[in-house]
Amino acid sequence: MLDHSSSEALHYQSGFGNEFSSEALPGTLPVGQNSPQRHTHGLYAELLSGTAFTVPRKEARRTWLYRIKPSASHPRYERLARQIPGRTLGAIDPNRLRWNPLAIPTTPTDLLDGLVTVAATSAPDQADGITVHLYAANASMQRAFFNADGEWLMVPQSGRLRVVTELGVLDVEPQEIVVVPRGMKFRVELLDASARGYICENHGSALRLPDLGPIGSNGLANPRDFLAPVAQFEERDEPCTLVQKFLGELWAAELPHSPFDVVAWHGNNVPYKYDLRRFNTIGTVSYDHPDPSIFTVLTAPSAVAGVANVDFVIFPPRWMVAEKTFRPPWFHRNVMNEFMGLVEGAYDAKADGFAPGGASLHNCMSAHGPDNATAEKAMAADLQPHKIEGTMAFMFETCKVLRPSEYALESPDLQSDYDACWANLAKTFKGASA
Ligand SMILES: [Fe+2]
Repeated sequence: MLDHSSSEALHYQSGFGNEFSSEALPGTLPVGQNSPQRHTHGLYAELLSGTAFTVPRKEARRTWLYRIKPSASHPRYERLARQIPGRTLGAIDPNRLRWNPLAIPTTPTDLLDGLVTVAATSAPDQADGITVHLYAANASMQRAFFNADGEWLMVPQSGRLRVVTELGVLDVEPQEIVVVPRGMKFRVELLDASARGYICENHGSALRLPDLGPIGSNGLANPRDFLAPVAQFEERDEPCTLVQKFLGELWAAELPHSPFDVVAWHGNNVPYKYDLRRFNTIGTVSYDHPDPSIFTVLTAPSAVAGVANVDFVIFPPRWMVAEKTFRPPWFHRNVMNEFMGLVEGAYDAKADGFAPGGASLHNCMSAHGPDNATAEKAMAADLQPHKIEGTMAFMFETCKVLRPSEYALESPDLQSDYDACWANLAKTFKGASA
């Protein structure tokens, strides 16, 4: 066994959407061409395309890999006996829904075995829109995985993860996110005793930074804070199970070697991480609220301008200074569909019931907003500048309705009394004589 890494065990490249290159062995990348007849070090050149060849240049994502064995060298995939719970969509339900956190498993469970699907905008064999998964694990993956159905945006809630990818290693902790491109092989190792978190599987165009419009050239998530790995490879001629998810099903093939055998690469179809604590949060300094789109970290556009297949939005620590304003997120009904999670602390629209690791789903036109306690407190408050601290909530907001899975609707974690948090909002109308 021989593992080659850069001089620093973990070292990242900074940037987003640019062309990157990285060599674990100097002189590996061919100069002036991508696919030489005979590679200097006897490596195979392989192209991983994240977009169709012919998309506009600004949309194109692809990476050239220089590896010991090409990915094509594999036996037949066989369907795994264990499939992901929640693969079947549940009954249509327009209600507001909320779930308690997943329990941490008590028997050895890696991330793949600890994965459940809670909601999706399409049946898995259509792979359209997004799918939302949760994970709870207590063991590192000994196998490799790739997802043919879309890219994965992983939001750890507890437990640090080491994400070993074909292009190198990314360590992430709660308050950070990691995005793995569609089709890229990776395994997730646990750096703590257990791990729990959320995954947005994006079946549409790749996530990218939102346009800033009148905000200007700085603000929200800054490009230089997105980190890609440097090349690192395993020369291991030992058996390795490679699992793929294809149209929602898990299939596996047995390889005689490690699939993490990429010695060098160049391109822009790369995994990356981002620390949510670096988000430059922008809000009102006079009155009222900007729309929560002001908190967008990443967006995946749909075919309609300005309408996202999915926005990844966060509600980080921030100062609240609005005058004469109902400061919590307002009561509203939205044409978009909102799946929310909580990494840490409390969300400023809910006094209780929405725990770190929990989730809520407010679909198209469902009315929601702050609960009774939060609303009453906000209306009675003597408004002074104050800072919301120790919190990190987030939202996957999509233009397509998210259908909860059968698993999610039958789960004991589904709260039966969610509506009650708005049931006793006081009637404060004073009548025309007031
Ligand atoms: Fe909302």
